[in-house]
Amino acid sequence: MKRALITGITGQDASYLSEELLEKGYEVYGLMRRKSKVDYGNVGHLIKDIKMIYGDMSDLVSLVSAMKISMADEVYNLAAQSFVATSWDTPVGTAEINAIGVTNMLEAIRLINKECRFYQASTSEMFGKVQSVPQNEDTPFYPRSPYGVAKLYGHWITKNYRESFDMYACSGILFNHESERRGYEFVTRKITNAAALIKYGKMDKVELGNLSAKRDWGHAKDYVHAMWLMLQQDTPDDYVISTGETREVRDFVNIAFDMAGMPLTWEGSGLDEKAYDKNGVERVCVNPDFFRPAEVELLLGDSSKAQEKLGWKREISFEELVRRMVENDIEIVASNL
Ligand code: NAP
Ligand code: GDD
Repeated sequence: MKRALITGITGQDASYLSEELLEKGYEVYGLMRRKSKVDYGNVGHLIKDIKMIYGDMSDLVSLVSAMKISMADEVYNLAAQSFVATSWDTPVGTAEINAIGVTNMLEAIRLINKECRFYQASTSEMFGKVQSVPQNEDTPFYPRSPYGVAKLYGHWITKNYRESFDMYACSGILFNHESERRGYEFVTRKITNAAALIKYGKMDKVELGNLSAKRDWGHAKDYVHAMWLMLQQDTPDDYVISTGETREVRDFVNIAFDMAGMPLTWEGSGLDEKAYDKNGVERVCVNPDFFRPAEVELLLGDSSKAQEKLGWKREISFEELVRRMVENDIEIVASNL
């Protein structure tokens, strides 16, 4: 039986990865932070199957201890301050978790079991102000947020430990992936949740930021499978994981509201852009508070390498992703009426 340690166990990706690893017969250990109120986040339904270890990415001792307890064959480092917008409010904390935290985890592995395989959750945010379109493993990085800069450190230190210590350490450069378990502050969930609340008269309108930003959105379930594949190869390497399709935030809004049975009509532009329902009621408007100090305008990934070398492919289409998120939020809102 293989043993896996997943950091960030309460998060979106860890929940899907745990399900996949448990199905494959792994013994799964999860690293979680202590909170004033116990909250298992997205893995509440798996609490009997996952062995929880308290720790923090900024606390090396806790990671050494987690390695000793789990004696993991594979570590998936998914823990992060993962919300880009907040990284301008907490730039130092974000770096401690997303950058130094990676070195802490790599050191804990090196000290306890150097043969343990390591997955680092790198990100398309590292491409930031993109230097070419589409982005692949050879595209130069240009991060545009404290989050992106910290993740770039994590990316390079992973490569450095691979080359310095001959460790099996990989980075997955994953483009945006969403799901029914996505945090409510991310734009996709904010939109699908708003569509559900508006449908049931629980909200009048949703305020958004940059509607023209373009993202390459996939479903988290497909993306965690790529993480596992990366740790099953003969040699460690880094891979881009993406759908190869990009859409504006505005497109996501239109499709989600259509699926919720409320098609929208748009009027105006810039900060005055608004969307109305069929009765002429304003449902979407722009609030400059949601704009970022520096924006990533366009992400579009080329995952050819992962498709060829890992045999990875995306199973869940964009439309299916939005449909699942909208239906899930409608169900949640309806059940709380
Ligand atoms: P998520 O839902 O926000 O989960 C992040 C997890 O990290 C949570 O369990 C959180 O715990 C934990 N965490 C935060 N700070 C920690 C600390 N100091 N010590 C220990 N744990 C800590 O994120 P996700 O969407 O699943 O993403 C997983 C990873 O992939 C992240 O590293 C993210 O940056 C990266 N990534 C995500 C995407 C995407 O589109 N989803 C794309 C590329 C890369 P709490 O519950 O205690 O807050
Ligand atoms: N959150 C949010 N809220 N974003 C908005 C809003 C809003 O009201 N209005 C427009 N946006 C735009 C943002 O400016 C950004 O361009 C885009 O929607 C996506 O924002 P998020 O959903 O917050 O995700 P992200 O792309 O910044 O970051 C996610 O993907 C990265 C991979 O590229 C996160 O999951 C990161 O952890 C991940 O690394």
